[in-house]
Amino acid sequence: MDPLPRFPAGFRLGVATAAYQIEGAADEDGRGRSIWDTFSHTPGRTRAGDTGDVACDHYHRWAEDLDLVALLGADVYRFSIAWPRIQPGGDGAPDAKGLDFYDRLVDGMAERGIEALPTLYHWDLPQALEDRGGWLARDTAERFADYAALVAGRLGDRVRRWITLNEPLVHLAQGYAFGVHAPGRALGLAALPVAHHQLLGHGMAVRALRAAGAGEVMITNNLTPVVPATDDEADRAAAGVYDAFHNRLFLDPILTGQYPPGLDAGVRDGDLEIISTPLDGLGVNYYFPTRVGAPGSDDELPFRMIPIEGVPTTSFGWPVVPDGLHDVLTGLRDRYGRTLPPIWVTENGCSTEDDLEPGGRIRDTARIAYLDGHLRALHRAISDGVDVRGYLVWSLLDNFEWAEGYAQRFGLVRVDYDTQRRIPKDSFTWLRAALADRR
Ligand code: FCB
Repeated sequence: MDPLPRFPAGFRLGVATAAYQIEGAADEDGRGRSIWDTFSHTPGRTRAGDTGDVACDHYHRWAEDLDLVALLGADVYRFSIAWPRIQPGGDGAPDAKGLDFYDRLVDGMAERGIEALPTLYHWDLPQALEDRGGWLARDTAERFADYAALVAGRLGDRVRRWITLNEPLVHLAQGYAFGVHAPGRALGLAALPVAHHQLLGHGMAVRALRAAGAGEVMITNNLTPVVPATDDEADRAAAGVYDAFHNRLFLDPILTGQYPPGLDAGVRDGDLEIISTPLDGLGVNYYFPTRVGAPGSDDELPFRMIPIEGVPTTSFGWPVVPDGLHDVLTGLRDRYGRTLPPIWVTENGCSTEDDLEPGGRIRDTARIAYLDGHLRALHRAISDGVDVRGYLVWSLLDNFEWAEGYAQRFGLVRVDYDTQRRIPKDSFTWLRAALADRR
């Protein structure tokens, strides 16, 4: 394989994880219940009834896991903080042991020369807040800002860059509109206020983080290039509608101070000012493009998803289209121009069916090809003038892949869930060599 092209000086490479997907220790040290505990313990909600009770046992094995990040040669480790560990009931005084855990983790990164990049919310809402309406309730935005201030008060002397929310669109759609993720509510379009309350919580948290001295604040969105199924007017119109939902709903209010038409449920005077508080960076999670056609007569939504054919797929069935990353990045630049802050690709990666060979080797060549292709596409976007500052692989470890449980393996490192043994895959070795090459 040809060596990767050179990234600009200062470009940061790393790996990402999220609390509920790796930590386990669900009942330890005063942690409260989250919506994911409730959801995964409800029969029929996750594949094979899998839960995050133990996951990768990272809560106890964090030092070993940080050693892996250091061995890889990563500059940055993106992780998330579990709100229910900090405020078990969703509000009020913090739980000392919960804060202590992240304190140790951040110190552990500093000792290893790794930048800590925390995400404050990666979908694990305290169940107590869901019982009061969850993100359908405006009050949750205020609670989120309080929580952000607590965490920044403790970690802010060592953490420079923060991410507020992870993929609020996916949380809205899967969690509140279709009900296939926690909290499992299938409200359809009536879920729309969840978008506004997450954005409001984001804006309030940006202000709370800055007040606590944060250096840089970003939000992470899942973005996809939307391709019309054909050139027909009806398909192009449907693609535009889908693009507004997927890509613009959470970016227009932040970057332009306005919602796309018709998507502004729950807005009050002054909210958009808070939401559009300028950011220092924009996190982009990219996995695949989306092909969209006009709805059929039996479709409830104003668009229809059309499979992308003729390309490889991951074990999740997701189409592998590296150029889509280039198109997302240049598309952002074209759409938002000078209001676009510097970009970080905060997630990109794939699940594979890894064969563990008798000697313990895992030849995940599909993952190497995926990462290689996407890093080249990213490099092209930078050459085309898009200001991208970092790229993080999803994920360091195989982990609890939400409704798919442990069936989808996204890690550079395999986790044997019976023994909790970590086994670096060939992709880990490949990325490690690529990172070493830069120095
Ligand atoms: C993203 C999520 C992340 C992980 C990857 C595969 O949507 O942010 O937690 O599940 O997908």
